Amino acid sequence: MSRLIPSRRSAVAPFMAMDALRDAKALERAGRRIIHMELGEPGAPAPVLVREAAAAALREGRLGYGEALGDQALRERIAAHYGARYGVSAPPERVIVTTGSSGGFVLALIAAFDAGARIAVTAPGYPAYANILSSLGLEAIPLEIGPETRFAPTAEMLAAAHRERKLDGALFMSPANPTGAVIEVEELKKICAFCDEAGIVFISDEIYHGLEYGAPAETALRFTPNAIVVNSFSKYYAMTGWRLGWLVAPEELMRPLERLQQSVSICAPTVSQRAALAAFDATAELEGNRAAYARNRALLIEQLPAMGLTRFAPPDGAFYIYADVSEFTADSMDFCKRLLAEAGVATTPGLDFDRNRGATTIRLSYAGAEAEVAEGVARLAAWLRGPA
Ligand SMILES: Cc1ncc(COP(=O)(O)O)c(C=O)c1O
Repeated sequence: MSRLIPSRRSAVAPFMAMDALRDAKALERAGRRIIHMELGEPGAPAPVLVREAAAAALREGRLGYGEALGDQALRERIAAHYGARYGVSAPPERVIVTTGSSGGFVLALIAAFDAGARIAVTAPGYPAYANILSSLGLEAIPLEIGPETRFAPTAEMLAAAHRERKLDGALFMSPANPTGAVIEVEELKKICAFCDEAGIVFISDEIYHGLEYGAPAETALRFTPNAIVVNSFSKYYAMTGWRLGWLVAPEELMRPLERLQQSVSICAPTVSQRAALAAFDATAELEGNRAAYARNRALLIEQLPAMGLTRFAPPDGAFYIYADVSEFTADSMDFCKRLLAEAGVATTPGLDFDRNRGATTIRLSYAGAEAEVAEGVARLAAWLRGPA
């Protein structure tokens, strides 16, 4: 009999969106056609130019280890992107290429904080944050956000939490998962200023940049050189499985990040790095994807109220709608399970994103193909109407 006892630090909560995917796949194996609105994954493949660059790299043969900080050409291309999109300077020496932004978080959190550090995150928020923080011996301090601030955290909230008990860090995203909310430029500026003044390390998750439907989101780098910016090729660039992201970090963190990367993953995948160089030239295709998400979003915004789903966070960006389903249920987990079993639509219960208040919300992802999303909407409407 095995005597191995898993560590306390490994006792992280399951990612319910992934559990929902597992259940949906089981139904598909049994022959059902399921509409996937549970995952934050572009329905479109990686851009043609990226796939061609990957094919060329494969044909060339050797794809060995690369430098821990990333291939110089890609670091330079990412640095150039900051000049082109935001008009800010982010020299290649401050860029590290990581194994998805997920790999970047782990490096950034270990490099910036010692065990016991207190990091503000939002509720609702991306569930992996709290899980990674707790497994690294860091404490996630949830700031509850809602319609009062358009589901965005504010400098004032951060200051109040800091007054109550000193914070060491803040980890916010804009546009956000699960809400799509964007932190307005003036507020982001205040958050950066407050963090600088209070000696709080600000980690800005900008992974959904490029997927805005109003004003483009601003980078924290515009307002402070001290923020650690996290980004990824997964979302706008539609390269989830390529496991490639990056950090832009203050100079003094670069050598610690490099040492950690050497030991944690050695380097980000070489084939993905070579392919990603082409991602910045694939704007026409990527903007086509964004236009398709925008149409999906418009369809949901138009159709949800007619189904009785009248309250949802302002979907400024990303590809999610975080909807209040309190008219229909007080148990979002059961609601999503029934929706999947009875209507064949996979969604994610709000409890994944907000343990205290998520029993009356669900997240709908509209990252899929337009026909799929349209069918998902039709099935949801029919299911909520009930038997004729
Ligand atoms: C806010 C946010 N950050 C980070 C990630 C992780 O993405 P990746 O590791 O693919 O870059 C996700 C994925 O859904 C996310 O929603």
